[in-house]
Amino acid sequence: LSLSTAISAPPDANYDEAKVPEYTLPDPLVAADGASVDDPAEWISKRRPEILELFKTHVYGRSPDAPKRLQYELTSIDRQALGGKATRKEIAIKLGDAPNAPSMNLLLYLPNDVSKPVPVFLGLNFKGNHTIHSDPGITLSEVWSRPSKGRAGEKKRGSEKSRGTSASRWPVETIIDRGYGLGTIYYGDIDPDFHDGFKNGVHPHHDKHESAERPADAWGSIAAWAWGLSRAMDYFERDDDVDQKKVAVLGHSRLGKTSLWAGATDPRFALVISNDSGCGGAALSRRRFGEKVKRINTSFPHWFCGNFDKYNDNEAALPVDQHMLIALIAPRPVYIASAAEDQWADPRGEFLSGLHADPVYRLLGTDGIATKEMPKVDQPSHSAISYHVRTGKHDLTAFDWGQYLDRADTIFQGSATPA
Ligand code: GCU
Repeated sequence: LSLSTAISAPPDANYDEAKVPEYTLPDPLVAADGASVDDPAEWISKRRPEILELFKTHVYGRSPDAPKRLQYELTSIDRQALGGKATRKEIAIKLGDAPNAPSMNLLLYLPNDVSKPVPVFLGLNFKGNHTIHSDPGITLSEVWSRPSKGRAGEKKRGSEKSRGTSASRWPVETIIDRGYGLGTIYYGDIDPDFHDGFKNGVHPHHDKHESAERPADAWGSIAAWAWGLSRAMDYFERDDDVDQKKVAVLGHSRLGKTSLWAGATDPRFALVISNDSGCGGAALSRRRFGEKVKRINTSFPHWFCGNFDKYNDNEAALPVDQHMLIALIAPRPVYIASAAEDQWADPRGEFLSGLHADPVYRLLGTDGIATKEMPKVDQPSHSAISYHVRTGKHDLTAFDWGQYLDRADTIFQGSATPA
């Protein structure tokens, strides 16, 4: 009995490799006019923009430009955080030019005993900044509840007792001890994660639709969260303690889909990490394994753009597949990670996206992916396209972080120099 069949699938999902339909992936190196792309300049000037445009039109939607003026405020600083080893800053970053535009609160830990600037991991969190560590100095985030039983979603200050409740996913001391900074933002600051017709969060502050109807390529929530990550990057460019050339963007699950789209749309991210991102993230849609396009569009109608609905039970018609999302990140290093018991996210489909992005990575002069065979459980494969599938469930664990830190050490070499 293979692991995938041992875990029972929801009624409308397939967990059996033998039932994956035959499919043909669009070739990332054949342009819309049918010409094959065989030099890096052509990829950059012609094919990459085509693919980016296809993802904006059919999958994630079209995001606005950055605000004209970056407005931010340092709202707290403690140079003796975590027993003196770190500086903790909180920065409110405005998500638009208008005075009533929302702000997001960036929580930033930086190691004290290393020379600045430092490389930084940046990732959104699900439950509020104060849940990532029990540090009493973290401001309690205002957290959205989802609408239920006729009640609208609402925002409430997080409770004292929820401090540190997501700490297993954020090994802050380890990150600091290894010479890295960590930046994180509650994703609901950017857009609350429920479907309200795009009335709250950043959308209404940027959408200027002529007609009452929302365009089919208007940005969804994943695009909004990714756009927020780019606004954190705008801030990093102004913070002398942060090495803006060494920022790794990371996310788990829906936020892994988000980190991939952030990495694809914003070349300032030097390393892009997808942890168990699954459907609409690293997993190939055409495999119809685990979560499918129709399922995700039904459960989460606000995540993608309206056009993505056209591919419900119709994946073969997609002009892209997710290997092309990985290719958009090239030649920058990407790390795709899966969990063996997370069949919903299709580990093999996540690996295959990396494999089929390899020709683009090689065209751009990198070592691409190191193996054509799916690596065994707990045996990471490291190269420009890194991949691992670890033992266990859908989660972001110490094992995952250990790999990401090792990989960052290699890529950002010598980053952790003692002061
Ligand atoms: C659901 C959803 C996934 C998503 C996950 C998460 O399981 O179906 O697409 O990745 O939630 O964000 O935890």
